[in-house]
Amino acid sequence: MAKPLIIANWKANPDSAVRAVVLAKKIEQAARAAPKVEVVIAPPSPFLFSIGHILRRTKLGAQNVFWEDLGPYTGEVSWRQLKHLGVQYVIIGHSERRRYLEETDEMINKKVLATLDHGLIPVLCVGEWERSGNEIPAVVGEQLKRALKRVEPSRMKNLVVAYEPVWAISTNPGARADTPDSAFRALVYLRRLLASLCSRRAAEAVRIIYGGSVNAQNIYPFLKEGKMQGALVGGASLFPQEFAKIVVRASDT
Ligand code: PGA
Repeated sequence: MAKPLIIANWKANPDSAVRAVVLAKKIEQAARAAPKVEVVIAPPSPFLFSIGHILRRTKLGAQNVFWEDLGPYTGEVSWRQLKHLGVQYVIIGHSERRRYLEETDEMINKKVLATLDHGLIPVLCVGEWERSGNEIPAVVGEQLKRALKRVEPSRMKNLVVAYEPVWAISTNPGARADTPDSAFRALVYLRRLLASLCSRRAAEAVRIIYGGSVNAQNIYPFLKEGKMQGALVGGASLFPQEFAKIVVRASDT
């Protein structure tokens, strides 16, 4: 079985490279103490270089990617540049980018294709804005299908899908974590859909992780009862002690 994957999504934090390096060193220590967990730090792009230099056990992630390799694309950071920085994972389609940057399913699809084509691991975020009742809303499936258009089934094994119900993200008003039970239903739903897009075997190889108000208290139930294969951690990843506890709890599964 694959190790649980715990990704620190720092979003636009902290304010300086010095602070980012201090935080990364603490996370690196936590990762060293938990060899059964795969830990990734996804800092803002300006800190990728300095953080990449100090990580040994922890892997480097990016929060975004541009699908072309080089050229006249002002403001973008391409997959080729990320690879040169030692980035292995790339968060794609986060709800904050969909909301504030108007990232479309078509752009997300281009990013997924480019990362898979060039040996980066996409962490594709899908999740509904609101939920009423127990059903996983169809929009989650639509996001997945659109993001994976033209992806060859043989490439699916390199994909990570992060189920992040937007209402559960800690910075959203009234946020509360989803329940492990409902996360499990989302996992089954996504796995089935993946199988219909490729094969059952390829779908089984895709790692599905949970995101949304993950902390040291709820990580274990999400992995154990929810059968999630890891977590995308926002707010709590900026608090090294809390994040270290999340990593330790994940290694108990
Ligand atoms: P949160 O963020 O852990 O602060 O809810 C998760 C995310 O947005 O990736």
